Order: sequence, then structure tokens, then C-alpha cells
Amino acid sequence: MAYTLEQFGADCRASLSRDPGAGGREAIRARLELLLANRAFVEACLSAQGSGKTVLYHDPDTGVYVMAHGTDEGDRRGRPHDHGASWAVYGQAAGVTEMTVWERTDDRSRPGHAALEEIHGFTLEPGKAVLFDTGIIHSTAHPRPARWVRVTGADLDTIERHAYDPDRRTMKRMTPAA
Ligand SMILES: [Fe+2]
Repeated sequence: MAYTLEQFGADCRASLSRDPGAGGREAIRARLELLLANRAFVEACLSAQGSGKTVLYHDPDTGVYVMAHGTDEGDRRGRPHDHGASWAVYGQAAGVTEMTVWERTDDRSRPGHAALEEIHGFTLEPGKAVLFDTGIIHSTAHPRPARWVRVTGADLDTIERHAYDPDRRTMKRMTPAA
């Protein structure tokens, strides 16, 4: 039997109820790879997803959101950003995501100023999932059309997050909207 979205949602709830820390988040990452192996799920929930995002599952008790994301653009490059107080698991369904992980090297004393250093880069291939724990600054790039799942511990539109410009050494609030 293929591992379904319903099972994944229930496992997200159970994992975070058992361990709301790194252990629960890693369990979700591993389970997301099982879900991505379900071709019927990918066909039904990701293949029809165009550019943009759709909520696939939300659990109000743990705050978890499972979102389908897509881009039909040929070369899409995002800015470095954080997820504020939330962690995130990215799982690739089709195409690839080029991930870059950044480290903040300034002393955080000047508002609006942030110096970043690129510390790690990798390509997320279909079927694979990665956990970015709370506070990790990362950027994504999609060299060709792609579909992916993002699981977070909160609604990212409602929590305080920041985007960074490494060249200008600036940062600004992304969400919530002012
Ligand atoms: Fe992100």
C-alpha cells in the first residue's frame, strides 16, 4: 500500500506530539520521502500545481502546514530568507531545487544591516527531503519548472520573517505584511 497524504498528516501530528523538537522534525522529513514515493499523490497534488502554492493539510493543534508549491518559470532564484520561529522541511516532487545555506556573520547590532556568508550548497533531487531547523537562513533556486512540498510548524505568512540581500548587506522584514 502506498503511503498517503492522510497518513502523512496523522504522522506529522503524532511525531510533533511525541517530540516537538529536532526528533519530531526529522521524523517528518523521513516520512515526507515516503509520501513523495507515492506516484498517485505526486500526480494528484503536485502535477496539477502551477506556479504558486496550495494548502494540502493543516493541523491546528500542532500548527503544522503541508503546502504544495510549484513554478513554471525557467530560471527562478529566491532571496536568502529565514523562517522566523518555524522550522521547515522541503521535499522535492519534480525538477530540482538548488539550495544554499547562509550564515550570518555580523553582530546583529545595527537594524537593517546583515552580513551573510555562503556556507553550503546542494541540489535537492526528486524524492528527497531536507530539514532546515529554526533560524537557518537559506535560499532556493529553480533552474527549470519544479514542484515541491514544504512542511512548516506555523503559517509562514503570519510570523515574523526576514529576507536578506548579501551583496548590499541589508535585511528587511518579509512577513507579516506591514
Ligand atoms: Fe524557505
